[in-house]
Amino acid sequence: MFPEGNVWSTYMFLLLLTTGVPAEKICSVHSNHEVHMGSSFQIYCIFKKECSRLIYQDEVSLNYSSLNSTVVIISIVNITRTTTFTCKCRNEPEPCGTDIVPGYPPAVPQNLTCVQEGESGKVNCTWKTEWETHIKTTSHLWLQGAPPVRYESVAVHDGTHSAIFPVSATQRDFSVWVHANNSLGSANSTVLSFTLNEIVKPLSPKIMKVECSSRQCQLYPDNARNIQMVEIRYEAKQDSWNTVSFNNTHLTTSWTITSLNPYSTYTFEVKWKPGPTRGLWSEWTRIEGTTDEEAPVTMLDAWYIEEPTKTVSKSFQLFWRELNKSEARGKILQYVVTVTEQGISNRTVLGNTVNVSCFSCRVSISAMNSKGLSPARQIQLQPIALLPYKVSHTLVNDHSVALSWPRPVSADPVTEFLVEWFPEGRTQPPQWIRVERHLNTAHITGLQPAVCYEGAVVYLYSSGTKKAIFKKISTWQTAPQQSPETSIVVKSETVQVKWSEIPPKKRGGCLEHYIIYLKDSADKIQNYNVTHPQREFTISGLIPGQTYTLWVSAWTTAGESPIENMHPFIPKHPTLDEKALALLISVGSAVFLTCLCLLCLCQFSSVHRRLSGCCHCLMPSIVPDPANSKWAKECASEKGEMKLQLHLSDSSMSEEEPYTVEVEEFPQEKLPEETISTEETLHSVNLQAESAPYQHNITSSYLKSFSNESSSSDATHASRSTDITVDYISTHGVMSGGEEEDEDDGDEEHEAFDFFPCPKSPFLEPLISIGGKLTLDSVKIDCSDFLDCA
Ligand SMILES: *[C@@H]1O[C@H](CO)[C@@H](O)[C@H](O)[C@H]1NC(C)=O
Ligand SMILES: *[C@@H]1O[C@H](CO)[C@@H](O)[C@H](O)[C@H]1NC(C)=O
Ligand SMILES: *[C@@H]1O[C@H](CO)[C@@H](O)[C@H](O)[C@H]1NC(C)=O
Ligand SMILES: *[C@@H]1O[C@H](CO)[C@@H](O)[C@H](O)[C@H]1NC(C)=O
Ligand SMILES: *[C@@H]1O[C@H](CO)[C@@H](O)[C@H](O)[C@H]1NC(C)=O
Ligand SMILES: *[C@@H]1O[C@H](CO)[C@@H](O)[C@H](O)[C@H]1NC(C)=O
Ligand SMILES: *[C@@H]1O[C@H](CO)[C@@H](O)[C@H](O)[C@H]1NC(C)=O
Ligand SMILES: *[C@@H]1O[C@H](CO)[C@@H](O)[C@H](O)[C@H]1NC(C)=O
Ligand SMILES: *[C@@H]1O[C@H](CO)[C@@H](O)[C@H](O)[C@H]1NC(C)=O
Ligand SMILES: *[C@@H]1O[C@H](CO)[C@@H](O)[C@H](O)[C@H]1NC(C)=O
Ligand SMILES: *[C@@H]1O[C@H](CO)[C@@H](O)[C@H](O)[C@H]1NC(C)=O
Ligand SMILES: *[C@@H]1O[C@H](CO)[C@@H](O)[C@H](O)[C@H]1NC(C)=O
Repeated sequence: MFPEGNVWSTYMFLLLLTTGVPAEKICSVHSNHEVHMGSSFQIYCIFKKECSRLIYQDEVSLNYSSLNSTVVIISIVNITRTTTFTCKCRNEPEPCGTDIVPGYPPAVPQNLTCVQEGESGKVNCTWKTEWETHIKTTSHLWLQGAPPVRYESVAVHDGTHSAIFPVSATQRDFSVWVHANNSLGSANSTVLSFTLNEIVKPLSPKIMKVECSSRQCQLYPDNARNIQMVEIRYEAKQDSWNTVSFNNTHLTTSWTITSLNPYSTYTFEVKWKPGPTRGLWSEWTRIEGTTDEEAPVTMLDAWYIEEPTKTVSKSFQLFWRELNKSEARGKILQYVVTVTEQGISNRTVLGNTVNVSCFSCRVSISAMNSKGLSPARQIQLQPIALLPYKVSHTLVNDHSVALSWPRPVSADPVTEFLVEWFPEGRTQPPQWIRVERHLNTAHITGLQPAVCYEGAVVYLYSSGTKKAIFKKISTWQTAPQQSPETSIVVKSETVQVKWSEIPPKKRGGCLEHYIIYLKDSADKIQNYNVTHPQREFTISGLIPGQTYTLWVSAWTTAGESPIENMHPFIPKHPTLDEKALALLISVGSAVFLTCLCLLCLCQFSSVHRRLSGCCHCLMPSIVPDPANSKWAKECASEKGEMKLQLHLSDSSMSEEEPYTVEVEEFPQEKLPEETISTEETLHSVNLQAESAPYQHNITSSYLKSFSNESSSSDATHASRSTDITVDYISTHGVMSGGEEEDEDDGDEEHEAFDFFPCPKSPFLEPLISIGGKLTLDSVKIDCSDFLDCA
């Protein structure tokens, strides 16, 4: 049977055969394999021959007692876990042994229930047991019924507590029980009796589709023919369940769930039952549905702040709060802001703020979703007048403050209060709350500690809006963490200090004041207290050449900022250049003033003439003869009374009565020369004293008005055709300029001005105000006609 040449392999095969036979064991163990948990008993180890014996429990050598030369008894006390016992002879390799498993007898199966899964499904019976046996336990489901059936289920092993069996349509009544058995004992459950009608559990409903409008959803089931009862529960996200029941008939094709909210996703769960007394409830079937949008119904809550601008047209920033989901009733696509000032302009806005520029205008704001617009919030944008009321506050905690304000005393009833607040400097959009009119307190919350807040209580009257402002509210303060950055401009005896704002995050609350420290070379420190919003200060009385150190700190009520940004400086002695410059400026201004005065004096014909005379004087060939002068002749003919008519024409006045001023001049003998008091006239006097003998007479003449008298002398006609620079220096221009700039001026001053435009200091102001860039170079004054007249 083996290939002849293969002796080696044959030998190997035989060897395998002999060694493959298990060696005869030297001993055997006598014991139960499964024992009661915690029991104590004896194990016998019977040796086939005498030898040096070794006993192990889980590989640990064990003391034992010998009954006789071949039998060893091992006593085991309180066994609680699976244990291996081994016996062997010292010189024999093959041991004998056994595993002993402690366990429990089966518990009585409890809570036996049976369910037929679907109309024609199998019956599934389940039960529970009170404890694990830890050893091999077999359960059998026993079944008796009519028509007779005796059925023992397949063995169900540990851990499984259910068994199913098929039923035929003829079988109606059943009795079942469970028998559990292991080596330590057995137990029967109580007998459960039922009919299939009772235990039939329909398959869970199949929903084909969900159709929703904004307020209701319809659920369409696949097949609900044998169903009478339906229960549906639904919830929106993070809501609680609502349950509704339906009586189903074979005509029913859908179930309608009403009173849902628009634009919400609902989870529906449906279960059903064949009849009120028949069968069991099915499992839940879950399906989702989303309701449609509706136009929002809630008005937006909007408010505005006025942007600080200097133009007449104010700029307002309008804010509003987003509607929450239940108010929006859909996805807000945009906001429609309608501004009514002159004409209507509609704007669509995506964010929640818009800037409006107008003087005082009405805006309305609506939110818009796919179904339409919300009711419009109407707001009148206008600067809000201040009320002198004091808003008081008490701190509640680090994030909230209680405000209270006086009740309005106005007869006009307040319709609502609105409290607005924002961090100082309006670094964030304002927050606001509306307060009912019968209240005069409010909690404002969400404040950050160590931030300075300001705001206002707005009194919304039916006829208008006023507000009482509050400032410097901070729930919790620290000293500022940073000192202002300073810059200084050093002069010889003064130093001008400017400093920056501390960034709001570093202020530690509301800044109260700044203190400027000035340390001199003797280490003496002087301080200057500057209240908060001011950021500039000039310190005077410094001694040039000394070394000073200057720094600025900021204060909240909680303390002072750290000392930093120190500036050492030394005020310089004024240098030679500076002195020269100062001299140059003073000389320059003196010359300038003199020129001004001369120009001014030119308005008077007499002076002009005097000046002309002076010019003539300087030319030796034409020496005027005062006695022959026209002036002297007229003076002689008029015998002391001279009429000087000033006619100052204006293009706009050409059709009206000429504006004439009659001036009566009296000889001057009795008036003292010292009445010339202004500096300008003094200059002119000094310059011209010798060459203009009448100068004093004219500048100091006593002038009397005859303006109400109407007389048309030759002089009037003559002056009408002159080229006096009335285009630039009209009395009207002078008057209107003067009125605009200085309305407080008395009438007398104006009169004096009419007659005496020259010595009055603001002579040049109207020139500047009319012409804007008029310079003296461009002023041409032709006084020749005055000279003629005179
Ligand atoms: C076994 O017996 C020896 C000697 O009698 C004793 O020293 C030892 O403690 C015993 N061991 C056990 C586990 O009882
Ligand atoms: C040891 O005791 C057992 C049981 O009592 C007995 O069957 C066996 O014959 C005895 N063996 C000897 C050698 O006495
Ligand atoms: C048996 O052992 C267990 C734990 O090992 C202990 O809790 C129990 O009290 C013991 N029983 C007896 C009777 O010694
Ligand atoms: C059996 O059901 C009853 C009542 O429903 C319950 O109290 C008991 O704990 C259940 N038994 C087991 C083993 O779960
Ligand atoms: C019988 O019902 C139980 C409990 O519902 C379940 O765990 C088990 O899987 C069912 N048996 C079969 C075969 O479907
Ligand atoms: C119980 O189980 C044991 C073995 O575990 C078996 O011998 C016995 O026949 C079983 N009894 C019943 C009634 O099934
Ligand atoms: C358990 O049920 C089996 C089968 O019906 C029966 O043979 C056995 O006697 C019952 N045992 C007990 C304890 O009721
Ligand atoms: C369903 O029908 C029963 C009996 O006719 C009635 O009592 C119950 O109110 C009905 N339920 C609904 C939700 O219509
Ligand atoms: C939405 O606002 C209304 C009132 O404005 C309020 O009653 C409702 O609780 C708010 N809903 C949510 C989800 O915040
Ligand atoms: C502004 O919108 C309103 C309402 O949507 C509309 O009636 C009006 O005609 C619009 N006006 C302009 C100028 O678009
Ligand atoms: C409105 O004006 C403010 C300040 O003038 C500016 O910061 C903001 O960006 C403007 N907002 C819009 C929407 O133009
Ligand atoms: C500075 O002035 C404020 C009020 O203007 C005062 O509260 C504060 O005490 C003054 N500080 C010092 C150091 O004088």
